[in-house]
Amino acid sequence: MSKPLLFAANWKMHLHPGEAGTFLDRFLTLDVPRSGRTVVFFPPAVSLQTVAARLEGHDHLLVGAQDVHWESAGAFTGATSVPLARGAGASAALVGHSERRHLFGETDQETAQKVAAVLGGGLQAMLCVGETLDQREAGTTVAVVERQLAAALTGVAPQADLVVAYEPVWAIGTGRNATPEDANAVHRSIRELLVGLGLPRSTRILYGGSVKPENVAALVEQPEVDGVLVGGASLDPASWATICATMAGVPGD
Ligand code: 13P
Repeated sequence: MSKPLLFAANWKMHLHPGEAGTFLDRFLTLDVPRSGRTVVFFPPAVSLQTVAARLEGHDHLLVGAQDVHWESAGAFTGATSVPLARGAGASAALVGHSERRHLFGETDQETAQKVAAVLGGGLQAMLCVGETLDQREAGTTVAVVERQLAAALTGVAPQADLVVAYEPVWAIGTGRNATPEDANAVHRSIRELLVGLGLPRSTRILYGGSVKPENVAALVEQPEVDGVLVGGASLDPASWATICATMAGVPGD
């Protein structure tokens, strides 16, 4: 018996439509579908439609936007709205990724507006939270994620289609990842914080930050880890298919 797992690929600023199509052709020959597993691809906006079209008919292989604007339409050059992402085939959106927060200056308030727009527009919101190295070393990890969660999720309905991704900023693209036990402990704190905000204990919490085929099994074995959000290792079809083939036992089995 294996627990249900969610595998999310954040392609960041990689794979144009032609490259995305080639990737998926290869991935689909390697992937072994199984019940209880969901895979979500977050391609760049220009490749959303190509990925959505390639995945049609493949249940539990979904596509989402990497970022959205909170307004549904208007004069916002370069931005993608929830209706535009939906129209291109997206069923989910990442919100508050650390690169949006730290490289593009996204504030907690903007993240909150985006969560509201994503949920209000009928997409699943995958909210990213996580501390920087300085914050971790100062012992403020839980305080930081508490602030990020409260800012983004206060007032969100318990039945909202929400996933949380814990991505320590110091582990992203660095080859350093949290130990499975450290990740589990932060996930446990996040779960309690979500319950305190009126959200269900069953909300899925993913881990992200230098996840690779070699370390994914130990991470998803942790009881509080419901899946992974992967950058670099999701750009190679073989490595991504290996990650998506990972199974984890249900505690007590
Ligand atoms: P890496 O897997 O490349 O560390 O990226 C993690 C990430 O930011 C996923 O959103």
